[in-house]
Amino acid sequence: MLQRRFGPLEVDVPVIGLGTWQMEADDRDSAILAIRRAIDLGMTHVDTAELYGRGAVEDIVGEALAGYRAEVFLASKVHPDQATYAGTLRACEKSLRRLRTDRLDLYLLHWRGSQPLEETFRAFEVLKQDGKILAWGVSNFDVSDLEHAIDIAGEGAIACNQVLYNLHERDPDHVLQVFCERHRIAFVGYSPLGSGQFPRPGGVEGDTLARIASARGVTARAVALAYLTRRSGAFTIPKSSSLAHVEELARAGDLVLDRDEIAEIEAAFPLA
Ligand SMILES: NC(=O)c1ccc[n+]([C@@H]2O[C@H](COP(=O)([O-])OP(=O)(O)OC[C@H]3O[C@@H](n4cnc5c(N)ncnc54)[C@H](OP(=O)(O)O)[C@@H]3O)[C@@H](O)[C@H]2O)c1
Repeated sequence: MLQRRFGPLEVDVPVIGLGTWQMEADDRDSAILAIRRAIDLGMTHVDTAELYGRGAVEDIVGEALAGYRAEVFLASKVHPDQATYAGTLRACEKSLRRLRTDRLDLYLLHWRGSQPLEETFRAFEVLKQDGKILAWGVSNFDVSDLEHAIDIAGEGAIACNQVLYNLHERDPDHVLQVFCERHRIAFVGYSPLGSGQFPRPGGVEGDTLARIASARGVTARAVALAYLTRRSGAFTIPKSSSLAHVEELARAGDLVLDRDEIAEIEAAFPLA
C-alpha cells in the first residue's frame, strides 16, 4: 500500500483509506469486519463524521477499532452548525466518546457554514494543545475559502481539504489540487466511486476501465482509485461494508498507472 506525507504533517498516510458514510444502513457485523479487514490491508486512514447516522457510524467505527486503534489514522468531522468555539470542543468530546478513543488523528470542519472560521479554528488549536486531536483540516472548501482559512490560521496549520473527487467530478486544470499542493494541504478525495454510481462495461467509460483493469489483473474500481491518487499530495477514501469489496479496493494502493493509461482514462471521461 503506497503511503505518502499527509500535507504538512510528519506522518505517512496510505493513499487508499476507508470512508464510512451511510454504514449505519448496512449490516453492522459486516461493516465491522470490513473496517478491520481494510486496516489489515493497509487502508488505515478511516474517515467518519458526527453527522453520519447522527453518531451511529462513529459508534460502529469505535467498536471496529477495538484492538486496532494504534494502527489507524482516524478522522472525524464537526458539523458546521456546531462549529462555534464551545460547540466544537463539545462535539469533539462526543465524537471521542462514541469512537472509544482519547484522540483523533484528524478533525475536520465538514463544510463552511455560518459560524466564523476564527472560532472553529481557535477550538481546533485548543484541542490540539490538549492532545485531543493531532491535526485539523477542512472539507468542501474551494480556493477562495482556503485563502481565507490560510489568512486566519497561517501556512502549515491546515492539514487537509476533503473534497468531492471522482472520474466524473474533476477539474481538468486541477486548480484546487494545485493550490493544495503549493500550500502543502493534503487533497483527500471523497465519493471516489461516485457513491455507488460507477460506470459499467458496455459504454466507453466502463469498457476503458475494464480493459486497463484486465491488463493489470485488478478491477475497474481499483483502476479508478489509482487514477484519482496519481498526483502527489492526493488521497482517497472509498466506502465499503463488504469484505470482498474492501479487498478489491486495497489493491489500488499498489497500482501506478502509466501515461498511456492515464491518457486513455481522460479520453474516456472528457470534461466540459
Ligand atoms: N466531506 C464530505 O462532505 C463527504 C461527503 C461524502 C462522502 N464523504 C466521505 O467519503 C467516503 C466515500 O464516499 P461515498 O460513501 O459517497 O461513496 P464511494 O466511496 O464513492 O462509493 C461507495 C459505494 O460503492 C460501493 N462499493 C465500494 N466498493 C465496491 C466494489 N468493490 N464493488 C462494488 N461496489 C462497491 C459501496 O457499497 P458496499 O458498502 O456494499 O461495498 C457503496 O455503495 C464516505 O463514506 C465519507 O467517509 C465525505
